[in-house]
Amino acid sequence: MRNDPFMRTYSPRQEAMARAAGAQNTAAASTQSAAALTRPVSATGSTADLLAPYLVKSQPYYRSVADEVELYEAAYSVRMPIMLKGPTGCGKTRFVEYMAWKLGKPLITVACNEDMTASDLVGRFLLDVNGTRWQDGPLALAARHGAICYLDEVVEARQDTTVVIHPLTDARRVLPLEKKGELIEAHPDFQVVISYNPGYQSLMKDLKQSTKQRFGALDFNYPEHEVEAEIVAHESGTSLEVAKNLVHIGERARNLKGHGLDEGLSTRMLIYAGSLIAKGVAPLAACRVALVRPITDDPDMRDALDSAVTTYF
Ligand SMILES: Nc1ncnc2c1ncn2[C@@H]1O[C@H](COP(=O)(O)OP(=O)(O)OP(=O)(O)O)[C@@H](O)[C@H]1O
Ligand SMILES: [Mg+2]
Repeated sequence: MRNDPFMRTYSPRQEAMARAAGAQNTAAASTQSAAALTRPVSATGSTADLLAPYLVKSQPYYRSVADEVELYEAAYSVRMPIMLKGPTGCGKTRFVEYMAWKLGKPLITVACNEDMTASDLVGRFLLDVNGTRWQDGPLALAARHGAICYLDEVVEARQDTTVVIHPLTDARRVLPLEKKGELIEAHPDFQVVISYNPGYQSLMKDLKQSTKQRFGALDFNYPEHEVEAEIVAHESGTSLEVAKNLVHIGERARNLKGHGLDEGLSTRMLIYAGSLIAKGVAPLAACRVALVRPITDDPDMRDALDSAVTTYF
């Protein structure tokens, strides 16, 4: 199984926690928090320096499934904001990493959560020993200097936070920094990409129509059998034969979605199982640990999945 060393994630939750810790000592104290010191962004400095950490340096492995690569390239050529829709662990994040690499554009990823505020995206004033200075948030950084800004699990963010992307995702392509009194005109290379799992939204948590209608959408799903087996074998280091069996189990489990399972077994889980098998773990034990136990606590469902495993191993 591969790590993703080439990917820099900007995590507002950690930043929010760091700020909360600092808030006990006046607003000024929060400025010398870990967030301020570790955040690799600044409103000054050359574009190349600022975005260098976000360049995808080596080619991510991505097996195209249909015409998504061509469609994304066409969308990027007109800077259309793009929504990647699909269940967990089906390749959305890997796809955007691959596209950023292919297009040679920096990729700034934001893991969205409900504590995230508009300032976490846009930026804020910080106080340090030299006085007050503005620090661009990830969205402002990407818009100002020309990166792809990937808002992962955007539905987790509150709607009043999500609306800050509106002026950047329509014909205006601007970002007003109200606190700073500045209007950023988006760099020509800038694009917004969001990910969205259609199974997870509820009445309380969904994107507003006015947000959805600013994006083109690419549908993702688990790839068809041969392709998924190829991906599982490649990523886990197990044989193609074992990978095919894992995919059979995955397909069986996916048929149980809505009949006791909330979500099907993801490609990611199949890769986990394959990695354990490649390390010498017995296939039954590997599948129990990586596929069956994480996905359900229901004893009957466990039995059903365990028996699917024994059919193939
Ligand atoms: N088409 C593909 N080509 C290469 N690898 C893939 C592909 N699809 C899935 N994978 C593998 O599956 C793993 C999970 O995919 P990824 O992390 O992109 O899922 P995701 O859709 O972003 O899930 P989540 O919604 O949970 O964030 C990847 O790390 C990668 O190893
Ligand atoms: Mg992802």
